Amino acid sequence: MQIERGRLFVFEGIDGTGKSTQVQMAEAALLKQGFPARRLYEPTRGLWGSKIRKILEQGRDGVSPEQELEWFEKDRMEDVERNIRPALDNKEIILMDRYYYSTAAYQGALGLDSEEILKRNRTFAPAPDIAFFFQAPLDACFERIEARNEDRTSFEKRDYLIKVQSLFDSFDDPVIKRIDGSQSIEDVAEKIMTAIQTSLAENGL
Ligand code: ADP
Ligand code: TYD
Repeated sequence: MQIERGRLFVFEGIDGTGKSTQVQMAEAALLKQGFPARRLYEPTRGLWGSKIRKILEQGRDGVSPEQELEWFEKDRMEDVERNIRPALDNKEIILMDRYYYSTAAYQGALGLDSEEILKRNRTFAPAPDIAFFFQAPLDACFERIEARNEDRTSFEKRDYLIKVQSLFDSFDDPVIKRIDGSQSIEDVAEKIMTAIQTSLAENGL
């Protein structure tokens, strides 16, 4: 099915809120309906993303918040140039597992200016059509993360994630749609697909 212009839907929220599950389901549902959907994620597996993944696995170990921020932004610039812009130019529907709101919230929670981060990212990264912000009680997220059996050093520490969540809560942008991630996987998927279909319908689809 041809769409008239590319679309960008982003999925944001703290770890364990169910983003990746929903990105995969939305991609499968759209592909089944014949739409040119593509799933992307940040941090990527590129040069900068790999440096980031190392600190995710092994801890920050002397990497300053400013340096960490720079790596996430360089990773995004590379992703925009190599993947996001070409796909939008090609009229694809991109489903992003994390984007610049994550940088504003996670690196903002390290004490950096989250509004400045948003402002700077908007100068080089295309604005989303919808930014789904997943919310779920921290305990539920922790249970899900533990069930996944990953040990993620400082990125998933409770106090840090409380700050990250409150920054996500503070962002105000007409494209943000808040999603209750504590509902069942099927109920969340239905809400997401309704919002995506509505957005596509505005394009006559
Ligand atoms: P995120 O990408 O936000 O970190 P995931 O999609 O990886 O979250 O989900 C984390 C875990 O929680 C996975 O094991 C997933 O199967 C489970 N999960 C996802 N959504 C729900 C939900 N709505 N209810 C219960 N469990 C869920
Ligand atoms: P991700 O692989 O999406 O983790 P998960 O599947 O557990 O949600 O993201 C890895 C971590 O990177 C996650 O803890 C959030 C963090 N992150 C930032 O700190 N800043 C950013 O700009 C992005 C995109 C992610």
